[in-house]
Amino acid sequence: MSKLRPTVSVDGQITAMDDAMIPVMDRGFLYGDSVYEVFRTYRGVPLFLEDHFRRLENSAQLIQMQISQSRAQLLEEIRRTAVAANVTLEVDAYVRYQITRGEGAVDLYPDPGLKTRVVIIVKALPTWKKVFYERGMDMYVPQVRRNPVNALDPNIKGGNYLNNIMALTEARQNGADDCVMLNREGFVTEAANSNVWFVIRGRLVTPGTGNLKGLTKKHVHKALKQTGIQSFEEDIHANELPDATECFVTSATREVMPCASLTLLGGERLEFPTGGGEITRTVQAVFSSYVKSYIESHANDALV
Ligand SMILES: Cc1ncc(COP(=O)(O)O)c(C=O)c1O
Repeated sequence: MSKLRPTVSVDGQITAMDDAMIPVMDRGFLYGDSVYEVFRTYRGVPLFLEDHFRRLENSAQLIQMQISQSRAQLLEEIRRTAVAANVTLEVDAYVRYQITRGEGAVDLYPDPGLKTRVVIIVKALPTWKKVFYERGMDMYVPQVRRNPVNALDPNIKGGNYLNNIMALTEARQNGADDCVMLNREGFVTEAANSNVWFVIRGRLVTPGTGNLKGLTKKHVHKALKQTGIQSFEEDIHANELPDATECFVTSATREVMPCASLTLLGGERLEFPTGGGEITRTVQAVFSSYVKSYIESHANDALV
């Protein structure tokens, strides 16, 4: 079978990933002053393409960035990069498109006249450890808290992940695979780069605020609703976590990934069913058939 070539476009210049370069004065590099999206393809079709563009535009608006390139231009460049990377109907890909505020003087204030830079990365999908699906990830509640919404809104999907990096590092240093970050008041927000869900007293819940509005989360709710299964977005305080009987995370690249354990702030370790409990497995099955019919009905969006 033909193979994907990791390929990058920097402002229209397409090269092998290893040869891609951006100028050091780029504000994305200097300050993390950028916004981005990640989607995966199935049979060449981007999953939830329209949603990704809308969220990118919302992130840009939240940081008062005017994207110089139109949506049509961005999409055309994503297509060119996908073709160069050898994305086909048989070879699925990871696509990341990042818009930086461009190059300027060393000055925090973003000159409104700057031209935004477009970086598109097309590569193979991440290969998660098999054990993450067969058994589940070990999760950890770190001391590091999620940025408050009124400091750095988690709905800015931006190029600065230091808050999440520090939380994840603390979790890894304590033997876990990923973190469940709390806000300052002790409410659950999200995992390092995915949304987190629990079954608490039989109800399927995920936090509605303090986290990125994940598109997988949005479509999991939709898929469940179509099947008549209830799911809720509500505040979840850390005090409620000992009542959780199942846990999983959702993201574009993980889809629905079970969690096997969660270590709480005080050190108490909760254990969840191996490979996901009954509800987690139902969510996986429901989402998987939802994705299948989404791809079938969006064949016209295919990149190649
Ligand atoms: C901080 C954070 N939360 C949640 C998510 C999940 O979002 P999505 O389902 O759109 O991939 C991501 C994905 O990158 C993320 O970075």
